[in-house]
Amino acid sequence: MGASDSSTLPPGPIGLPFLGSLLQVWSDPLDLLATGVRRFGDTVMFRFGPYRYVLVHKPSDVRHVLLGNHDNYTKSINYQGIKLLLGEGLLTSEGSFWRRQRKLAQPAFHHRHLVSFADTMSRCTEETLERWERRGLDRIVDVHDEMMRLTFRIVGLTLTSTDLEREARAMGEALTVALRFGNDYAESIVKLPLWLPTPNNVRFLRAKGALDATILGIIRERRASGEDIPDLLSTLMHATDEPGAGQNPERMTDDQLRDELMTMVLAGHETTANALTFTFYLLSRHPEVARRVEAEVDEVLAGRAPTFADLDRLTYTGWVIDEALRLYPPAWIFERQAIEADELDGYHVPAGTIVAVCPWTLHRHPAYWDNPEGFDPERFSDSEGRDRYTYMPFGGGPRMCIGNAFAKMEAKIVLASLLRRVHFELVPGTTLALEPSITLRPRGGLPMRLLPRRWERASREGISREPSPRERTGARAAAMERQQVPGDHPRGR
Ligand code: HEM
Repeated sequence: MGASDSSTLPPGPIGLPFLGSLLQVWSDPLDLLATGVRRFGDTVMFRFGPYRYVLVHKPSDVRHVLLGNHDNYTKSINYQGIKLLLGEGLLTSEGSFWRRQRKLAQPAFHHRHLVSFADTMSRCTEETLERWERRGLDRIVDVHDEMMRLTFRIVGLTLTSTDLEREARAMGEALTVALRFGNDYAESIVKLPLWLPTPNNVRFLRAKGALDATILGIIRERRASGEDIPDLLSTLMHATDEPGAGQNPERMTDDQLRDELMTMVLAGHETTANALTFTFYLLSRHPEVARRVEAEVDEVLAGRAPTFADLDRLTYTGWVIDEALRLYPPAWIFERQAIEADELDGYHVPAGTIVAVCPWTLHRHPAYWDNPEGFDPERFSDSEGRDRYTYMPFGGGPRMCIGNAFAKMEAKIVLASLLRRVHFELVPGTTLALEPSITLRPRGGLPMRLLPRRWERASREGISREPSPRERTGARAAAMERQQVPGDHPRGR
């Protein structure tokens, strides 16, 4: 659909009086947005209650909003929900305060730190593997839950040098409660004050209390120890404002530190856990891709745990992650709000309009991607000619994800480490249900069967091998379990 004169609003569904398309966005946002783009074109306007909501897809418009004219945009009103949890952390703060904090936090993600983070990531993954193997493989686990625990531990160790292994499960549950509340709060027309003791408010405040206690505990412990460990926590703790004449330099308060750490812990683990879960799902649905990535891992690592030096050679593994991030972008939508009126794709965008960039629809746009619904990691072998603003898993412009390189490295290390020894198989009858909340995550987790790679390799190479007594017992139990799963298929072992 072509642009018209610049006083015209973008086209889009009219929806119901007062509500606009609110009911549809509550029930199935992915479908509402994808259908809107198909029906109305690259720039489509929805009405959600009192708000105009414009979705942009032209790379030049995406660039304009995130980079060229970013000063005219703040984060949208919908970030208010998550702000209840994250306060004035990097993700939700604005203006000169955000700029200062970003400058302070940036060095913690510097290349030289990433090298040491790689060892921590590798070690934590190794420990997860050992735990799985101790309990015996050929077992069904919730891969999403496992990845949440792992990435949570990694972010705690790399950014605050604290091992949160014991807190992982409780924190994960509290985060899920808090995120759901943040999302519902953003979507609700009437925002009840938090002091009202509604069941939802009580649940949220309890979850937030548990999260605050853990984060403040980390800060107080570090203050008490007086240690100067070179991590993000110390960097932020020792950061000072440039003092004015006659003033003392100011340090961040515990509450400011809490906001920054909570943001990093949240932004830094749930997204990566979701990306890894979607990757395992896609590999299980595409055995030819799984075989190729496993072959690369075998060749590059020859059985040992990965280090930073291996990363460049894990090329195909990297494309698999890129492609999983294309099809299932954990940050599936991000939004801004126009301060002054703007013009996008030739249409008038009034002040106050929410403008959204939606990797979910952008990454499946047939004008930018051949076979957009297909899983084809090879397409990332040659990115030449692709506009950077058509692939946005980490956003763009000055508010681009600060943990971009961290996350890509972590996903590669975790994936390669695990695929060395484990083959992930989807439990027959399982379908992937999506929960498009603040992030895109698998609804209700993702049960998968973990198989020892040596079994799978032996069967592929046609070698009949004698199972160990322990494997025999495990295999018998598994066979019994399999008989109870409807629609199962033989695995050809
Ligand atoms: C696959 C994993 C990840 C994905 C898909 C992802 C995606 C994103 C996106 C799209 C944004 C921009 C949001 C916007 O413009 O409104 C963002 C911002 C951010 N991300 Fe990530 N992220 C990931 C991992 C991480 C990690 C590992 C960390 C930290 C360790 C992190 C920390 C942050 C922070 C602090 C911001 C706010 C930056 C700012 O506004 O200055 N993220 N992320």
